[in-house]
Amino acid sequence: MTDEDHLDADGDLGFAPAVVDSAGADTAGADTAGADTAVASTAGRTAPRRRAGLRRRVTSLAVLVGALTVVGGGYAMLAPTSGADDTVSSQDVEAGRQLYINSCVTCHGANLEGVAGRGPTLVGTGSADVYFQVSTGRMPAPTQGALELRKVPKFTEQEILQLGAFVQSKGGGPQVPAADANLRAGSEALGEGGELFRLNCASCHGATGHGAPLSAGKIAPDLYRATDRQLWTAMLVGPENMPVFSNNQLTPEQKRAIIAYVENLKTTKDPGGAGLGRIGPVAEGLLIWTAGLGVLMVSILWIGARL
Ligand code: HEC
Ligand code: HEC
Repeated sequence: MTDEDHLDADGDLGFAPAVVDSAGADTAGADTAGADTAVASTAGRTAPRRRAGLRRRVTSLAVLVGALTVVGGGYAMLAPTSGADDTVSSQDVEAGRQLYINSCVTCHGANLEGVAGRGPTLVGTGSADVYFQVSTGRMPAPTQGALELRKVPKFTEQEILQLGAFVQSKGGGPQVPAADANLRAGSEALGEGGELFRLNCASCHGATGHGAPLSAGKIAPDLYRATDRQLWTAMLVGPENMPVFSNNQLTPEQKRAIIAYVENLKTTKDPGGAGLGRIGPVAEGLLIWTAGLGVLMVSILWIGARL
């Protein structure tokens, strides 16, 4: 019964001619074999079975092709929202190779294998990591062992993407989202974004995203200068001791919500705390304490003078 259903589906999918053709060839084969009646009868019995088998195979192939088309189509529809940059050409990879040889090879090696005491391997770091490191000016590192801090980038956006394309072509890895990818949710996601930010980011970057010192001389920088794409790639690759937030840990939807929230923090005039230059709660407390003490001293002197 399901065979019949599939046959109908075949017809709809335009596979019917193929089935008829090959089945016809099959029958013709059976006819030739049928010179002897005994053989003919065996052929007569096997042919329909073979036809049914073939039909089933063609049908499952059709179903598979259909399913792949649907999945592929669905993916293509969803991909542009968070997918990788697919505008990369082989010229980009070649241009990236040149840039890499000029600026990165001494520390990361001719085959991205890394250089002992200079830089780690870049195999598998992907274009997302290259985008994060180079667009925030952390790479190329100026000197060995210096704290990699945000600086003015040395390369144009296009060159950064070319560098990324080269590294990507060598070992895969997380990819930088396309320039037109939708990386920021609308204001309706601010609540969710705030919740996720407090859970996943605030412990290091502060409740208002102003950044904070971590242990061992590390710094979680403020998030006010990071672009959407930098926020996205930072989450994907987890630089230094920042955790990696893969798309399993934080779905693309959740990443978009977090970015919406961070963007909101940037633009909000007063994201919390007293407006004292965002020097942090301890410093703010000290300031208030000192000012309070001053007032107290003045009052004591005033009372003393009156007595
Ligand atoms: C002076 C040496 C030096 C140069 C030049 C340099 N890097 Fe690096 N790179 C490092 C070191 C050291 C690290 C690891 C420290 C860190 O992650 O902050 C690193 C880390 C990286 C990472 C992160 C790797 C990881 O495991 O997450 C990427 C990506 C990267 N570099 C890309 C580049 C690119 C692209 C260039 C050229 C434009 C470049 N680097 C030039 C020394 C260098
Ligand atoms: C365990 C601490 C930690 C947590 C949690 C953390 N980060 Fe980070 N983050 C860091 C550190 C450390 C750096 C600096 C890395 C470097 O300089 O290589 C950083 C850097 C960044 C940067 C680069 C900023 C710039 O201007 O260059 C962005 C963006 C960022 N983090 C976003 C996030 C977001 C979003 C979350 C939450 C989803 C998060 N981080 C969670 C520690 C953390």
